[in-house]
Amino acid sequence: MLTSIKTNSFEGSKSKELGMMYFRVAIVLFGAQLLMGLIAATQFLAPGFLFELFDFSVARMVHINALVVWMLYAMIGSVYYMLPDETGIETVGIGLGKLAFWVLTAAVTVVVLVYILVQVGPGTESTIWLINEGREYLEAPRWADIGIVVVVLVFYWNTFMTYMKGKQTGIMTVMIANLMALAGLYLAGMFFTDNISMDQFWWWWVIHLWVEATWEVFVGTLAAYALIKIIGAKREIVEMWLWIEVLMLFGSGILGLGHHYFWIGTPEYWWEIGALFSSLEPVPLIAMFVHVLYDWGKEQGIAKAEGKTGTVANNTPALSWIVTNAFGNFLGAGIWGFFHTLPQVNIYTHGTQFTAAHGHLSFYGAYATILIGMMYMGIQGAYGIKELKSTFKSKMGIFLTTFGVLGMGVALTIAGYEQVLVERAELGAGWNAFFVAQELPWYVQAQLWRAIMGVVTFSGFVYLVWDLLTIGAAAKKAEA
Ligand code: HEM
Ligand code: HEM
Ligand SMILES: [Fe+2]
Repeated sequence: MLTSIKTNSFEGSKSKELGMMYFRVAIVLFGAQLLMGLIAATQFLAPGFLFELFDFSVARMVHINALVVWMLYAMIGSVYYMLPDETGIETVGIGLGKLAFWVLTAAVTVVVLVYILVQVGPGTESTIWLINEGREYLEAPRWADIGIVVVVLVFYWNTFMTYMKGKQTGIMTVMIANLMALAGLYLAGMFFTDNISMDQFWWWWVIHLWVEATWEVFVGTLAAYALIKIIGAKREIVEMWLWIEVLMLFGSGILGLGHHYFWIGTPEYWWEIGALFSSLEPVPLIAMFVHVLYDWGKEQGIAKAEGKTGTVANNTPALSWIVTNAFGNFLGAGIWGFFHTLPQVNIYTHGTQFTAAHGHLSFYGAYATILIGMMYMGIQGAYGIKELKSTFKSKMGIFLTTFGVLGMGVALTIAGYEQVLVERAELGAGWNAFFVAQELPWYVQAQLWRAIMGVVTFSGFVYLVWDLLTIGAAAKKAEA
């Protein structure tokens, strides 16, 4: 990943180079995210840890904002990476694109430094402009918000113009339309009202309609592109699946938004709307899972019939991450999401550690996985390797991170279960009930296991980075 800065095999494709630049920052931010998670997890066990030096509120905020930002980086990187392949031409406006990359990276650095340096203070108009907007996941202050919009406009313009000039594949058509929705939704989280219900109402437009509609469609296009590249899947079949998935994802995900409007002061008809449409959301996730396995099995079968031995995949680390994605998306978003999506259940689980279990399993399963898969595709391209094979480090990387996140998910589910029983059902959800539930052994032990599994996740990350830094050069040497 590092050597490719100077000696890549992109044959002058500046777009792919820019894609790799985005990937590199993404992986650094992913590391920062995990470190913040470890601090916050330790604070659950020892509340005095780093008190007034690095408070829980800050560690948690940086943890989840770094999460969103690294994923957006990896998404932009993926688009710049695949654009020349899909459109058949070099990306338009790449000079401006590079400038935008540096502006964004400088802005992100400043924002994070301010978060860390200014931990407490008054909540005034200038706080919103300069320090923190206070909206979970999207805390960037207003000046940075405006900067982000400008940078994204440059990115979208480049992508759109390249699409218009080049070949217009089904994958790219979905990508272009979806990116417009994805970028446009950001605006819903930018204006400010003093009414907290209204604020939440719009804030969910960004968070929910990102992760349960536009981001899902986005990973659908990535999986389609990757299946064609890695296992030689037929474009007609992949694109047919993609259109069906898009229809189902938007069909259920858009009104599925209602599952966040149960208790925030919105009209009661949202109970029925949210219950019905969000219950349908797992369906496209099953379809995406079946799609990946179906195409993989089919291409593998064809190759075998032709007398070829071994795998059809020309990039096994990337394929492993993409298969993990298909399964993780269904498990974390589909199953763990469905668990608490009916109002009759959500009234008990709302705001317990059960939500956090779902948050970890879904973000990891649906997004972290496939974006890491795209990074491996980038490495294969950068070093010009015909067949990239998993190394011991690749396997440890994917196994330990996945096992760790699954372990955290299970631990948090147990903590959430205890909260539902004791804090909500038995003690009636009052102030005191909250603290009683926090101190019982089930809860404390679960938090301990989450911290242990967090360390396992982090060790997987170390292997992953080590692999990303070395696999390309080693494979190139072996091929020569
Ligand atoms: C990849 C897709 C998904 C991601 C990344 C995701 C992530 C999250 C996160 C982080 C939260 C917590 C938000 C907060 O801080 O308040 C949340 C809440 C929720 N999610 Fe998902 N989710 C996904 C898909 C789904 C699906 C498919 C369903 C339903 C079938 C679902 C149902 C819910 C519900 C009901 C809540 C509200 C929990 C509560 O506060 O009571 N999610 N989701
Ligand atoms: C080293 C591993 C990790 C540790 C120790 C860790 C720890 C934590 C902690 C302590 C919180 C605050 C929970 C609360 O306020 O109750 C949190 C929130 C969160 N983390 Fe992690 N985390 C880790 C990795 C990850 C990964 C890999 C992802 C996703 C890719 C992730 C996504 C989230 C999300 C979405 C939330 C907000 C959940 C919610 O509000 O419901 N974390 N994490
Ligand atoms: Fe949602």
